[in-house]
Amino acid sequence: MADTLSITDNRTGKTYEIAIQDGTIRAADLRQIKVASDDFGLMSYDPAFMNTASCRSAITYLDGDAGILRYRGYPIEQLAEQSTYLEVAYLLMHGELPNTQQLGAWEHSIMTHTFVHEFLKRALEGYRYDAHPMGRLVAFLATLSTFYTDAKDVRNPEIRKQHVVRIIAKMPTIAAWAYRHSLGRPYIYPSNELSYCGNFLAMLFQIAEPKYKPHPVLERALDVLFILHADHEQNCSTSAARGVGSAESDPYVSLAAASAALYGPLHGGANEAVLRMLKKIGNVKNVPEFIASVKAGEGKLMGFGHRVYKNYDPRAKVIKKLADDVFAVTGRNPLLDIALELEKIALSDEYFIKRKLYPNVDFYSGLIYQAMGFPVEMFPVLFAIPRASGWLSQWCEMLDDNEQKISRPRQIYTGPDARDYVPMAKR
Ligand code: ACO
Repeated sequence: MADTLSITDNRTGKTYEIAIQDGTIRAADLRQIKVASDDFGLMSYDPAFMNTASCRSAITYLDGDAGILRYRGYPIEQLAEQSTYLEVAYLLMHGELPNTQQLGAWEHSIMTHTFVHEFLKRALEGYRYDAHPMGRLVAFLATLSTFYTDAKDVRNPEIRKQHVVRIIAKMPTIAAWAYRHSLGRPYIYPSNELSYCGNFLAMLFQIAEPKYKPHPVLERALDVLFILHADHEQNCSTSAARGVGSAESDPYVSLAAASAALYGPLHGGANEAVLRMLKKIGNVKNVPEFIASVKAGEGKLMGFGHRVYKNYDPRAKVIKKLADDVFAVTGRNPLLDIALELEKIALSDEYFIKRKLYPNVDFYSGLIYQAMGFPVEMFPVLFAIPRASGWLSQWCEMLDDNEQKISRPRQIYTGPDARDYVPMAKR
């Protein structure tokens, strides 16, 4: 059986043979299909990239129908159980798990780049106390680009490495300081004695303790949440990082663009939207009425549905279990009962079954974050911090891919034909 596709163009009666590789045809191969020699050639039209592969990638494998997620081949469940976020970040970047020495060196280089330029403190003062922390994160990533002008040399692998480390290292510091600023609390400098997540918790929550000790269960829970959020192949924000990066923009502004995409309520902003939704529902007894309003098209069940998963999101499964460990320390989040009831009703309701709508990663993560003491505005930031390692891995892979060029989709023009300018007096 030949791996080709025969296409007959009924406009001309001509037949074409197009190669199939990896279950895919090359859109550019369609260009040979023309009605006349000066014809541009056939294009494919795919709004929202519903069925178009934009790259070849060896980072994350996702089977949405089977509910499978793997980083570099390793199942997400095994990584969540046995690995750490920094080890996963190494795996995403380098393609293999590190040995003891490699992991030690990687952790050391991350934890010795956690300080940020003092100017950033002054930049923080420019924001109102109630500025959304995601807005600040987007701006600070772009601001960091102005400090590290050598980062523009994106074709230099050594320089690239340095900035990958810097970004992963500084994300928690920027996020924690934005949070402290909104509360009017003094900024806490990073502590290299603590783990990546322990240090982050200290920068967020330390008050007057000479030595802040994060609760080990909460520190581990945050680390697991970071593992689960580290990468998710070609989603909206990753595509933004790749798209902006394809213009050879530096990694800071490329990640600012990715963060801006993540900010949206249909993407990383969904965990925040879930919490607001649960609060609005207010009580388990109001759940049937809320579900009815969703089915009537009056709103979405936030935290449900996914472009790719048409099965239970494997990350949501891990998070649901993790919630028990966290609530054993913090006390049960009263909104959990509403979430469980929503899930129960939705999973047995024809509307959701027919559309294959299952809980996604955001459905339970917000409940954990809230129980740990994070305000809802911080939820998308908690998504962005670990996703930085995924964005950077994808950005590097894009730069090293000889087939990639500046990202530039085509369009079908639907505007007016050529017409003469009409002077103001004649309009
Ligand atoms: N609640 C109710 N109905 C839904 C939901 C939902 N959460 N999601 C999809 N649907 C319905 C749509 O109305 C549509 O119904 P129709 O066929 O009758 O028109 C059908 O399911 C298909 O939905 P689409 O919008 O075509 O699916 P798409 O793949 O474009 O959207 C998305 C995926 C954006 C995630 C969507 O499911 C959604 O908005 N969910 C809520 C927001 C959310 O939780 N986002 C987080 C995603 S995970 C992440 O980014 C980390």
